[in-house]
Amino acid sequence: MGKVTVVGSAAMDLTVHVHKRPAAGETVIGSRLYLSPGGKGANQAVAAARLGAETFFVGCIGKDGYGEMIRRNLLSQGVDVSWLEDTDACGSGTAHITLSEADGDNSIVVIQGANALVNPDLVRRAAARLKESDVVLIQNEIPADAIDSVLDCCRTCGVKTILNPAPAGGLAPETLLKATWVIPNEHELHAWFPEQNLEDVLKAYPGKVIVTLGEQGAVYWEKDAVVRIPSYKVEAIDTTGAGDTFVGALGAALSEGQPIKEALRFANAAAALSVQQLGAQGGMPVREEVEQLLKG
Ligand code: RIB
Ligand code: NA
Repeated sequence: MGKVTVVGSAAMDLTVHVHKRPAAGETVIGSRLYLSPGGKGANQAVAAARLGAETFFVGCIGKDGYGEMIRRNLLSQGVDVSWLEDTDACGSGTAHITLSEADGDNSIVVIQGANALVNPDLVRRAAARLKESDVVLIQNEIPADAIDSVLDCCRTCGVKTILNPAPAGGLAPETLLKATWVIPNEHELHAWFPEQNLEDVLKAYPGKVIVTLGEQGAVYWEKDAVVRIPSYKVEAIDTTGAGDTFVGALGAALSEGQPIKEALRFANAAAALSVQQLGAQGGMPVREEVEQLLKG
C-alpha cells in the first residue's frame, strides 16, 4: 500500500438534472436537485483511498453544515483529515453543476469559498506529511502560491508529484513543469500551450505530460512514439469526477511503484467504472472492481 497525499479543494456539489441545458436567456424546468460531496482534491483523495492507498487530505472548509458533511464524508472513506482546517472567514466551497440527462455531460460553476484560503502556511504545516508521501496530488482549485509551495517542497525532498491543472488556466508554465507528471485534458493542455499541437507537446516532455482524451483514453510520449492507453466503453450516467477518479487511481497505482503503463490502465478502468453512478464520488470503485475489469 502506498502513501498518497492530496493538497486541494473540497466542496459540496449541488447538481441539477435537466433534460436539456438552458441557452443564454432561456429557462428550463429541471427534474431533480442532488447534493453530494465533491471538489477535485477531495474527489481524488476518495478515489485513492477506495483503491487502498493510505490517503491524507490537506485543505480548508468553512465552519458550516457543508463543511461538516465534507469532513464526515472524507472520514467515512478512510481519508486522514488531520490537515483539513476549518475557518470562520468564509463558507465551504460549492460547485453548481448542471447535468444533462441526455448524455451524462455537465457544466460546472465553482465557488471557491474556503478553498481560497489554502496557502503556503498550511502547506508548511503539512510539510512533514508531504515528505513521507510516495506521491502528492495537486489540482488547480486552490491558489497558485499554494500549488507552487507544494511543488517546491516536494521537489526539495524528492517526493513525486502529479499536477492535474484542472480547471484550465491561470498557472504559470514554470509551475506546471515543476511536477513529476502533469495530467491535463485537451482543453487544459490548450490553455497551457495554445500554439502547439498535442504530439509536439508530448514529445517535448516525454513521460512527464500525460493527456487524457475522454473516451479515447490517455496518451504520452515514450522513446520515439506516442503511446496510447485506450479507455473502456461504458454507458455514462454522470461523467462528473471521472477525471478525478482517473488521477486519484493513477496516484494510488504509482504510489505502489506500478510502471506508468500499468498505472494508466488501472486509472482508465477506475474512471470507466465511476461514470456509471451519480455524483463525482458515486461509483468510484474499490480495488477488486478495477481488477475484475482489467482481467476482462
Ligand atoms: O471534477 C469534478 C469536480 O469539479 C466536482 O466535484 C466539482 O466540485 C468541481 O469542482
Ligand atoms: Na460518478
